[in-house]
Amino acid sequence: MIEKWQQILKKKSQGLKISMLTAYDYPTAVLLDQAGIDLLLVGDSLANVVLGLDSTTQVGMAEMLHHTKAVIRGSKETPVVGDMPFDAYQPAGSPAVMNAKQLMGAGCVAVKVEWFERCLEVTEALVRAGVPVIGHVGLTPQTAELLGGFKMQGKDEKSAARIMTQSLLLEQTGCSALVLECVPDELAQAVTQALKIPTIGIGAGPFCDGQVLVTNDMLGLNSRKVPKFVKKYADIGAEIQKAAISYKREVEQGNFP
Ligand code: KIV
Repeated sequence: MIEKWQQILKKKSQGLKISMLTAYDYPTAVLLDQAGIDLLLVGDSLANVVLGLDSTTQVGMAEMLHHTKAVIRGSKETPVVGDMPFDAYQPAGSPAVMNAKQLMGAGCVAVKVEWFERCLEVTEALVRAGVPVIGHVGLTPQTAELLGGFKMQGKDEKSAARIMTQSLLLEQTGCSALVLECVPDELAQAVTQALKIPTIGIGAGPFCDGQVLVTNDMLGLNSRKVPKFVKKYADIGAEIQKAAISYKREVEQGNFP
């Protein structure tokens, strides 16, 4: 898996795009792995997408590890990235390295951390401990309230400069790749050109080195409000409902079994 991960990082220099999707369970991991997706992310979006919670800050290491292990069991070929939940590294004194090592011990090739005020310090400690890190800048859901809510970031010159600086610093600190969430296309393009490490965009336009989507959003398997930039590639939610309605009717009518 480590070799695969390194090959994926090299795609930038080869002019090839990286595809990444989230996965939270075994059956989805099997399907996405067999589809040949480059990277799977066990995102802390687990909170909203799967567990019905209001905020990603409501999941902790226990839940993330539980789901990460299921995804790793399902993914034979595709490297898996573990998302560090808020509690695992943001509160002062959190044992970030120990938590990241738990995700790595489960079989992840890297962990992802969102930007916050001590992000560089934590990233440096993780890199020093030998943990590959994907940074995450722009709209960072774990601290969205500090950014004025779930809205595009980097629209004015000052905040665009801030995101560019954060990106450069994360690269210098040793990040292997960078997720850019909800920033204008031109800013994503400028960051992508400025960095040697690959950028993976979500709601950040076409110029990133790769793209990531929340799988449930792009499959129509979601009861939450889906961001505007998401393309719905299938409507699995509607199919599940149709199947359940048919089953109910057939049971009630005595046609099944
Ligand atoms: O938690 C998540 O799913 C993420 C992606 C949206 C990048 O962080």
